[in-house]
Amino acid sequence: MAPFAGSGANPLRDPADRRLPRIAGPSGLVIFGVTGDLSRKKLMPAVYDLANRGLLPPGFSLVGFARREWQHEDFAAEVHDAVKEHARTPFREEVWQQLIQGMRFVQGTFDDDDAFERLRGTIEELDKAQGTGGNFAFYLSVPPRSFPVVIQQLKKHGLADQSSGSWRRAVIEKPFGHDLKSAEELNKVVHEVFAPDQVFRIDHYLGKETVQNILALRFANTMFEPIWNRSFVDHIQITMAEDIGIGGRAGYYDGIGAARDVIQNHLLQLMALMAMEEPASFDADALAAEKTKVLGAVRLPKDLGLATVRGQYAAGWQGGEKAVGYLQEEGIDAKSKTDTYAAIKLEVDNRRWAGVPFYLRTGKRLGRRVTEIAVVFQRAPHSPFDHTATEELGKNAIVIRVQPDEGVTVRFGSKVPGTSMEIRDVSMDFAYGESFTESSPEAYERLILDVLLGDSNLFPRTEEVELSWQILDPIEQYWDKNGKPAQYQSGTWGPVEADEMLERDGRSWRRP
Ligand SMILES: NC(=O)c1ccc[n+]([C@@H]2O[C@H](COP(=O)([O-])OP(=O)(O)OC[C@H]3O[C@@H](n4cnc5c(N)ncnc54)[C@H](OP(=O)(O)O)[C@@H]3O)[C@@H](O)[C@H]2O)c1
Repeated sequence: MAPFAGSGANPLRDPADRRLPRIAGPSGLVIFGVTGDLSRKKLMPAVYDLANRGLLPPGFSLVGFARREWQHEDFAAEVHDAVKEHARTPFREEVWQQLIQGMRFVQGTFDDDDAFERLRGTIEELDKAQGTGGNFAFYLSVPPRSFPVVIQQLKKHGLADQSSGSWRRAVIEKPFGHDLKSAEELNKVVHEVFAPDQVFRIDHYLGKETVQNILALRFANTMFEPIWNRSFVDHIQITMAEDIGIGGRAGYYDGIGAARDVIQNHLLQLMALMAMEEPASFDADALAAEKTKVLGAVRLPKDLGLATVRGQYAAGWQGGEKAVGYLQEEGIDAKSKTDTYAAIKLEVDNRRWAGVPFYLRTGKRLGRRVTEIAVVFQRAPHSPFDHTATEELGKNAIVIRVQPDEGVTVRFGSKVPGTSMEIRDVSMDFAYGESFTESSPEAYERLILDVLLGDSNLFPRTEEVELSWQILDPIEQYWDKNGKPAQYQSGTWGPVEADEMLERDGRSWRRP
């Protein structure tokens, strides 16, 4: 069988891929919940983009599993539409023609034993027709309540079995539980069926180039690491702001809220990458060990009333349009106490970080869509300049811009041209778009490729997930018992209580 889309000759193979050809071996991907939003917008396009970049093996197979009465051709037509609409790279007919050779659809519900037997038969057929070698990853893009039943069905029908020398892997979407207890229960179900190295928990933030760049910035350079500690850093702010509301996802979001949806996974992972020690190597075990140590050293301040804020968006204006409040959104209970904004202050109890606050915040319907990490440094211990010269000088900062304007900014003081000694903040910028010609792959491209390669570097492990819930649980319990979320107007930067939280510490939130 010919290599996928002609590896080597493929003009879309970017130089980075040529330097380090990480092409998956014979394999296939089964997507459960293939008619869903995530599959359509992210997973199917990512599979196509990987094929288009020549990174999939010849004979790669894609199996969709869902309830609809579709034939293989209907499934292929859906994938085609999703790819045309959402793929990152241009559509190429020859790539598409090769991809559809390995496309199959299995109709059924998750409790339908016959459907899982049909899936087994389909995999055997693909092994013969496409040479997939029995190597399959099962992607659970399904409602979280269905994770256990799908995992158990995979076991019952022998689909998790690797005894023939082939590999089987499970990819599990977020959220992984809704508190520590449920995460532990889910981990138990998963590990009764799959060994730890067969399980890939998705935190798509880790698939982003800018997030992986935290490791490059810190550990490939000499100039940052010596000041990356309590002697120089005043505090660290991690922000993930969205400008949209809950859209059509009321059923998913209500009762979950911002802290569970974003802080427990994405922001605590970013914090772990920022705070961890240098791993002995970049192998998955070494990386996980360092992240786990940091998460285990995280401490909550004693008074959670002063160190946490939750908010809920009220009506307002967003991008020139009127926006309704959360309680007026369709499908939301008018008495809902779900947080659409959460800000928390954490500390890391170790020698490097003792006394340095990490402020984490996330929210919907905020001023702008932006994710960034700001390391804010202490002021110089002594200033030989006149007080008036430095009135406009803020604290030095390194800002990692995760999205949308990917890059890094260093902020420092500089003399204003003129006859007097006046010093003001200036910025030095690195922008991905200007420094590199190739565009960044989507997070899901990277993550799906890593699953097929069996590379688990970018996937949080059992301990990390459980430690993250251990951090969040007391906050959620405190919020449950104490009052209601503060209201904030849509289109602003969150409740005033969040500003007051930092003001009490003599600090302020950045306005990205
Ligand atoms: N959407 C996102 O942007 C996003 C982001 C991050 C994480 N996630 C996670 O990704 C997963 C999928 O999310 P989604 O937004 O794509 O959900 P969704 O749009 O509700 O899709 C769920 C899928 O599961 C199928 N399904 C549900 N119950 C089933 C059953 N009993 N038997 C067979 N199929 C069943 C649905 O099939 P039918 O079409 O037949 O109903 C549909 O294909 C969830 O775990 C979610 O938390 C999603």
